[in-house]
Amino acid sequence: MKRPLRLAPSLLSADFSDLGSAVRAAEAGGADAFHLDVMDGHFVPNITFGPALVAAVRRHTRLPLDVHLMIEDPARYFEAYARAGGTTLVFHIESRGEPSTLLRAGRELGVEVGAAIRPDTPVDRLWPWIDRLDQVMVMGVNPGFPGQKFILEALPKIRAVRERLDLAGASTDLSVDGGITTETALEAAQAGATFFVCGHSVFGGGTVAQNLAALRSAVHRGAESAVR
Ligand code: DX5
Ligand code: ZN
Repeated sequence: MKRPLRLAPSLLSADFSDLGSAVRAAEAGGADAFHLDVMDGHFVPNITFGPALVAAVRRHTRLPLDVHLMIEDPARYFEAYARAGGTTLVFHIESRGEPSTLLRAGRELGVEVGAAIRPDTPVDRLWPWIDRLDQVMVMGVNPGFPGQKFILEALPKIRAVRERLDLAGASTDLSVDGGITTETALEAAQAGATFFVCGHSVFGGGTVAQNLAALRSAVHRGAESAVR
């Protein structure tokens, strides 16, 4: 069983001084969730924001909040992001976080748990946890900054995860994050992604609603033309 195709605008590319307006515009334009990029300056070179900002966004929307933890020690902060209103807490498989500990913590806190994988990490690192995760996030760029170019090697990785999930009959979200444009969204959907994080392609110019409509049409075309 597959989950529906969903678009999650990444607030990293929105105007930080007016996030409430960005959230309302994207929600009115058909966003299905929001993606929040937490960076600690250790796991990735950049620093963004912490639980207080997630809580502030939560006050503006009831949509799911997908919290992408690009941090070295996710276990230490799981509870804070759950309390801040995160729906799914996504840790990196390359971080110090121990997946079974994080999965247990997520269950106790009542949040979904996802695992993200960087472009240079072999996809089989995910296999021991694949049937317990609520989301698998394949990175299309090296995490750290918005607006980068999609790394095409992500596509075979998405296909490999898709195959595993289908074999297991799992309804796990298969998300793709980084470098998503209408072209790469179509290709990722064709490869089997169901959850699309889009930063620059939603907030980087033009109208948020029109950008979301174009991305939605691309992912539907991709999913319909998937040869699997
Ligand atoms: C990159 C972040 C992404 C980023 C995506 O490190 O994880 O979520 O916001 O931005 P775009 O869609 O512009 O590549
Ligand atoms: Zn992200």
